[in-house]
Amino acid sequence: MILVTGASGALGRLVVDRLAGRTAGRTVAGTAVRPVPGDVVAGTRNPERLPAGVPVRRIDFDDPASLPDGFAGVDTLLLVSAGYGEDDAVIARHGAAIDAAEKAGVGHIVYTSLSAAGDHLAYALAHRWTERRLRSGTAGWTILRNGLYAELLAALTPVVDGRITAPLGSGRLAAVAREDLADAAVRVVTDAAAHAGQVYELVGEEAVGGADLARARSAATGAAVSYEPGTLAQAREDFASLGLAPFQVPMLVSTYSAIAGGFMAETGGDLRALLDRAPRSALETAVTAAHGGPPE
Ligand SMILES: NC(=O)c1ccc[n+]([C@@H]2O[C@H](COP(=O)([O-])OP(=O)(O)OC[C@H]3O[C@@H](n4cnc5c(N)ncnc54)[C@H](OP(=O)(O)O)[C@@H]3O)[C@@H](O)[C@H]2O)c1
Repeated sequence: MILVTGASGALGRLVVDRLAGRTAGRTVAGTAVRPVPGDVVAGTRNPERLPAGVPVRRIDFDDPASLPDGFAGVDTLLLVSAGYGEDDAVIARHGAAIDAAEKAGVGHIVYTSLSAAGDHLAYALAHRWTERRLRSGTAGWTILRNGLYAELLAALTPVVDGRITAPLGSGRLAAVAREDLADAAVRVVTDAAAHAGQVYELVGEEAVGGADLARARSAATGAAVSYEPGTLAQAREDFASLGLAPFQVPMLVSTYSAIAGGFMAETGGDLRALLDRAPRSALETAVTAAHGGPPE
């Protein structure tokens, strides 16, 4: 049995849909993804929010009492990071999940981590802690070091009055479509033993910057869009004025800073090999996301 946590989140939902055969996704390794209906369980804090058709268990890493029953009988766990919080909160969540999975006898844990290029991001530490915990644990493991989503890049570069002012400087991001990361996760969880002890760097093959986005968004809408990068200080001030949780501001500002500093542009990695096909275009994915995303 495969259990996917974070199943109402964007990534978890894509993975569950593919595993349940609700979405064919693209072919992986030359064949359509093999659905495993009856063998996939969706784990979520809010079971009532998930569509019918796949068994659902309540899984809340902040409520360790939910975890022994939640993980009972699971062979392979896709542990989707629950990264919104201060480091100590995220570490406690992931630690509780891994402790409980080991106690429940889960054979293999596949963890959605962060690309090596992301080490300068404010949220890298909890991912590296979790990787270290898995390596020293008793279950088999595979680490999916996910690059930053093209959809996230779209959200971080809004067009306001015909201008993108996100402080990316001349930096670019080797962004990756979330759907490709879902396809890669499906490939791994459906054949976990073949991926035991592997760390996959899943960044995109196309580095996208502010000027690229402005050009593509102009082309998509026919309306002129310019790229006029602002400063990190302005971005920090803008985020601080939105009433975000305190941890969110450094999270967002460090994302701009790491891209602008040129740390997130390196393309390549293991994505193509894991998918056995070309990844989706990061630029097209970002533009589609900026205009409301793909049809459901
Ligand atoms: N690579 C990137 O660009 C990028 C961008 C944003 C986030 N991330 C990381 O990747 C993860 C998955 O991305 P996503 O796009 O699916 O994000 P998302 O849509 O925001 O979903 C995150 C999910 O995490 C789960 N979660 C939160 N707190 C939890 C807890 N206490 N216990 C168990 N699950 C919890 C929730 O699932 P349920 O509501 O179903 O419980 C939530 O829906 C995120 O959580 C974050 O750590 C990566």
